[in-house]
Amino acid sequence: MLDITIMITSSRLPGFYTQNLAERLQTVVQQSGLTPEEAASLSNVAGLSLEGADHMIENVIGLYGLPFGIATNFRVNHKEVLVPMVIEEPSVVAGSSLAARLVRESGGFVASSDEPVMIAQLQILDLVNPYAARLALLAQKQRILDFAKTTDPVIVNLGGGPRDIEVRLIEDSPLGRPQLVLHLLYDCRDAMGANTVNTAAEALRPMVEEITGGRVNLRILSNLADHRLARSTCTIPTTALAFDEFDGEFVRDRVIEAYAFAASDPYRAATHNKGIMNGVDAVVIATGNDWRAIEAGAHAYAARSGQYTSLSQWGTDSQGNLVGTLEMPMAVGIIGGATKVHPTAQVALKIMGLQSARELAEVIVSVGLAQNFAAIRALATEGIQRGHMSLHARQLAMAAGASGDEIEKIAAQMVNEKQIRLDRAQALVEEIKSYLPIEKRDVDPR
Ligand code: MEV
Repeated sequence: MLDITIMITSSRLPGFYTQNLAERLQTVVQQSGLTPEEAASLSNVAGLSLEGADHMIENVIGLYGLPFGIATNFRVNHKEVLVPMVIEEPSVVAGSSLAARLVRESGGFVASSDEPVMIAQLQILDLVNPYAARLALLAQKQRILDFAKTTDPVIVNLGGGPRDIEVRLIEDSPLGRPQLVLHLLYDCRDAMGANTVNTAAEALRPMVEEITGGRVNLRILSNLADHRLARSTCTIPTTALAFDEFDGEFVRDRVIEAYAFAASDPYRAATHNKGIMNGVDAVVIATGNDWRAIEAGAHAYAARSGQYTSLSQWGTDSQGNLVGTLEMPMAVGIIGGATKVHPTAQVALKIMGLQSARELAEVIVSVGLAQNFAAIRALATEGIQRGHMSLHARQLAMAAGASGDEIEKIAAQMVNEKQIRLDRAQALVEEIKSYLPIEKRDVDPR
């Protein structure tokens, strides 16, 4: 059973970035009360055993590791949260943490979420009169809900269960005849709910065919979970926006211009939203949730007006502060699925110290907003390559065979020289090796 009783005292951890890996882990252990076993599970490949993996998917032959980092400084609805992020891309954890530090100066993120209601869809075809079939379903709503309630007594006992139905008639389709679509709205409580919702949809088939006289084809949830939205807003005073040679008003206005670009151009919106998803997915993955579901829902929601657009909005308040908002579907759970069976996902949830799937959704959408701000702030001022390049340089140094202190030294030299390339990293590694005593060099044993 997940122990989520520990309250993080502060997510503001000055100097966390400069600690070594073991020190950082120790800091998180102290903050979130991880047991030695939980802490140890972060040190092997993803905490997951081969045996555990073999039960998760088919044809397993191994494991695949990714970095597990912590974004600091997050305060969401007055609660301090350390945010676990699993991602291969440099700058995302640093960017989110930086944005969260600026936002906390004005109190942190204010977030909210809908009840955790998913949509199950049933596609109904071969109807003599689709209009009459639609009304028949609406007339039998209570019967449909009562039956759907019997398909997962566990979730019903936890306070969830079927809530409502919607019936949509789609007149135009490649079939050349109308399709009727039944939506069962189902409250999944703290689960993402895919299994529960799909079970209910499948079980409803005979009843729906009987009521409509039609034929039910697909029965599956919709990832456009627009009854399960999460939203977050943040305010950043212009004084907090100033950095280097850029004054606060300048940064604010450039960020708003960057947003306007994404709001009106789908080519830019795709990249803008990708920046949001850098933050969102990293937490979704860390907590064992289904990031493909979240991605699908996000982009479908971004296109809901018929034009693909920015998921976030940036503007000002009456005092001239920068204000950001983000609203998107957020179907995540803290029980069931991989959140339950993946040991590292359990550790991630414990680090966050959250009590419900809705709280998790509210933190995730706040991280998406933070990451979006970090990206467009950099793009609209110094560009992203400076920050990206020093991290990229480290990766190249490692790829060239550097280890320990050599990594930072070689990365710093490549950044100074503005020559961030693998061949340069290899040359620098060779150079360093040539200073080493012969017994410390990697000597080819042949
Ligand atoms: C890179 O992974 C994400 C960005 O392209 C997002 C953006 O352009 O807003 C920097």
